[in-house]
Amino acid sequence: MKREQWSSNMGFLLAAAGSAIGLGNLWKFPYVAGSNGGAIFLILYLILLILLGAPLLLTEMAVGRATRLNAIDACKAIHPRWGFVGAAGVVGAFVILSYYSVIGGWVLKYLFAYLRHSSLGDADTYYTGFITKPLEPVLWHLLFAACCFGIVAFGVSKGIERISKIFLPVLLITLIGIGGYALTLPGAAQGLRFLFLPDFSHIQSFSDLGTILVQAMGQVFFSLSIGMGTLITYGSYLDKQANLQKNAVMIPLFDLIIALLAGIAILPCVFSFGLEPSAGSGLLFRSLPYVFDHMTGGRWLAIAFFVLVFIAAVTSAISLLESIAAFFIDRLHWHRISASGLATLCFALIGVANSLSMGVWSDFTLFGMSLFDLMVFLSDNVLMPIGGFFLCILASRIWGFPKLLQEISSNGTYPVRFPSILRWILRWMAPAMILVIFFVSLF
Ligand code: PFF
Repeated sequence: MKREQWSSNMGFLLAAAGSAIGLGNLWKFPYVAGSNGGAIFLILYLILLILLGAPLLLTEMAVGRATRLNAIDACKAIHPRWGFVGAAGVVGAFVILSYYSVIGGWVLKYLFAYLRHSSLGDADTYYTGFITKPLEPVLWHLLFAACCFGIVAFGVSKGIERISKIFLPVLLITLIGIGGYALTLPGAAQGLRFLFLPDFSHIQSFSDLGTILVQAMGQVFFSLSIGMGTLITYGSYLDKQANLQKNAVMIPLFDLIIALLAGIAILPCVFSFGLEPSAGSGLLFRSLPYVFDHMTGGRWLAIAFFVLVFIAAVTSAISLLESIAAFFIDRLHWHRISASGLATLCFALIGVANSLSMGVWSDFTLFGMSLFDLMVFLSDNVLMPIGGFFLCILASRIWGFPKLLQEISSNGTYPVRFPSILRWILRWMAPAMILVIFFVSLF
């Protein structure tokens, strides 16, 4: 069977940016940045994005394109004993999808709620009432999972690429619109200050700095979709003549722009209504509905906003699903529909348990965490850093830097900029940094 390909590098770029831009940008970034010292976090994040994010992204794409295989077989093709790096990625993709899809379901629920009603009433009561229900959140989660399946089943260029091409420009325009509106609100400056001004009260000791570093690294990994083999998979459908270095600059740049725009759109709203920017899902599902309900035209803004979050979440989730499906397709020669169907079934089942762990199963904990929190911890703090660490070693030492360089340069077509710095980053700096931050995060 002929391996599928992106129809153009632009198609790949939009799909990879679609994978990177997701709940991590719209839901996590504004809050994590704001509550970790604003500009201090931003500076560390930028440094890590350049030193760790872009080189790892480049490496993943190169490994995928050179081997033209799914993540597990790509790592195995480099060295037969190293398939575990790709396997950690595929397991990680299941883990992330199992909770990502639950939140995707909440987004759909809120979108439909605003289509039907002009206000949700008390946002806190609405949110808690909804997520703790046994059946309804599960059904929305299954609907989200079905959307992902529908897209991936159509294939790389007819499904994933087509959806990313439409969705990303819509996302950008809507976000700029909401951001522009948010800036006109009274008190908007306070939100911007929260995000952009350094707040040194967050760094009282060395360990505070450690905490911010851990958060920044986690955000770089999650936001760029690295360490999970998704970019190995997307890279495997890439043309030999595509310029990987350009892609490794453009994807983080798009991702950063969207994260900053999300901060500029969301935080001024939250502050102008005197709310505290609360953690994670709280910001999207508790604070913002309050804001929407209290502003003129808020309902329409809410609809635009949740459409936007849905788009972002779907284009990320399909990259995870594709990296699992690609394994079944390559290895077992399954049809794309059966491969993506089985993968969806598996993650959707774990997702059901995750959803229930918010309500009827909330008493059941493992290592002091609910199942949902455990999945988040496992992917963000364990699987992604481990995947990233071993990928650096595999590509730069086992495969060998010269071969990696050859692939990155498309056999000399695009000479690699700063090869010695890249070599040093992949062989020493990135693994050491990931290791240190990984252990700091565990203790
Ligand atoms: N990058 C996505 C986000 O920011 O929401 C999440 C994600 C997608 C993480 C794909 C990892 C991944 F492999």
